[in-house]
Amino acid sequence: MIDEQLQVLSSVVASQTKLHRRFGGVVPEVASRAHVQQILPVIDEALRLAATRLEDLAAISVVTHPGLVGSLLVGLTAAKSLAMLLGIPLVPVNHIEAHIYACRMQAARDVFPAIGLVVSGGHTNLYDCPEPIGFELLGSTIDDAAGEAFDKVAAILGLDYPGGPAIQRAAAAGNPKAFRFPRSFLREAQRLEFSFSGLKTAVLYEVAGTPPAEYDRKALAPQYVADLAASFQEAVVDVLIAKCRQALAARGRKALCVGGGVVANTRFRERLATLAAEDGIEVFIPPLSLCTDNAAMSAVAWELLHRGQTAGLDLDVAAGLVRKR
Ligand code: KG4
Ligand code: ZN
Repeated sequence: MIDEQLQVLSSVVASQTKLHRRFGGVVPEVASRAHVQQILPVIDEALRLAATRLEDLAAISVVTHPGLVGSLLVGLTAAKSLAMLLGIPLVPVNHIEAHIYACRMQAARDVFPAIGLVVSGGHTNLYDCPEPIGFELLGSTIDDAAGEAFDKVAAILGLDYPGGPAIQRAAAAGNPKAFRFPRSFLREAQRLEFSFSGLKTAVLYEVAGTPPAEYDRKALAPQYVADLAASFQEAVVDVLIAKCRQALAARGRKALCVGGGVVANTRFRERLATLAAEDGIEVFIPPLSLCTDNAAMSAVAWELLHRGQTAGLDLDVAAGLVRKR
């Protein structure tokens, strides 16, 4: 629940991490069923914590894309029902743009124009963001997302799911220079794209040989795992930082807004601070609660509402980055 001054009155997150852990990743059907079970209790809890009644709401914002359509449809159906029942506007929100808008919420002042980077389990996208909405996609990953690479490499190393926090913990005791892993497109300044699949394979080949042979994940020496984790993490962070720099230079922007689960990574945060200091760039980083997936960042809906960008009850969801009107 967000007021017009972007104050978070309540933010309720029904995490499904435990549900998906035993599968080692998100299972779409399991995710949508959990959404069905959670959606009404979550809405009730959000109203209760904000001490707000349904009748007090000015609008309903709903994420329509990108994402898993089964889960998105559950949210959209609930949102449409409420909007119709209450006779208030329905505002469709792009999940990735909302991740960047979290920076605006945290800063409590205008942060645009800026370059935006969203790094999550599903996306690694660079945007030019002249204004709070209507971002231009500069480039994205051509294979795995950065968070996905963390999750897959954690599995290779026998670490827990989700992999990001597990790799970060293991890396704390490791040497980031122990292994020299590939950094895709690092020096191709014009190419604002990412590729993490080769990096993931390089870690696998190091652990299991070429071609990979069977190995016991749980029998890997802790120091070996720590060095691999630190070297892998450094390679991902090197690329993320380099692409931010290249995008900032390409568009002549002086501000950088980052978002998504991977921004929880402490090494990435350190390197962002260095970038800010060395390049004279203002870097906006949301607090952890606004970095990982949450509904509060859909407050970008206020910007859309003020521009009249509301939707009718024929609104649909989309798996990809673009939703047809
Ligand atoms: O944005 P998010 O919560 O969910 C979506 O994917 O939309 O991002 C989750 C991703 C996972 O891949 C997870 O491994 C990664 O963020 N992640 C991290 C860290 N915490 C979460 N990656 C690196 N370091 C972390 N500390
Ligand atoms: Zn997300």
